Amino acid sequence: MTAPRSRIAMRAVIGVAAAAGLLAVLVLWQPSGLYPWFKALHVIAVIAWMAGMLYLPRLFVYHCAAAPGSAQSETFKVMERRLLRAIINPAMVVTWAVGLWLAWEGGWFGSGWFHAKFVLVLALSAVHGVLSAHVRAFAEDRNHRSQTFYRVLNEVPTLLMIGIVILVVVKPF
Ligand code: HEM
Repeated sequence: MTAPRSRIAMRAVIGVAAAAGLLAVLVLWQPSGLYPWFKALHVIAVIAWMAGMLYLPRLFVYHCAAAPGSAQSETFKVMERRLLRAIINPAMVVTWAVGLWLAWEGGWFGSGWFHAKFVLVLALSAVHGVLSAHVRAFAEDRNHRSQTFYRVLNEVPTLLMIGIVILVVVKPF
């Protein structure tokens, strides 16, 4: 079962609106003294987002080996859809909203490390979009990529994560 393009666009709009709404609540509420608590929430959301972003391409590797229409293939479709909708998408919304609030509250928007991190996070979000497109392709039995492609794709979020964590923890510039 696949969603039409209008529903997919609607979900993207809802995701952006949810992040913007959460961010607006944090900015208006001005929860002073809660910076470390929101940083903890940010890291928890990051862990959930990354866990999904690292597991989803792994599922694609195994899914490639299952014949379209087989029971195994249908099971992978359910696993991929649930992982994307129940974990990866909401975790990304919370990571973005709380991360932007931390940047605003902490006065980090002028820092070099933050600019570099922002570029890598945008790249990570683009990979998120690419993985979502592959979930749709598998759901419609029109995947034409190989296991090797997904093995390589699996490494991209890992490399971006390493760069992002070094930038935010070491703050080298
Ligand atoms: C989505 C957009 C994101 C924004 C706007 C953002 C922004 C921020 C900001 C401003 C901080 C606080 C820095 C400090 O107080 O020293 C922070 C902390 C952190 N972020 Fe992000 N972040 C984002 C995504 C990510 C991602 C994708 C990762 C990991 C893959 C990540 C990992 C971390 C970690 C580990 C910390 C804690 C650093 C520390 O306490 O030393 N962030 N983030």
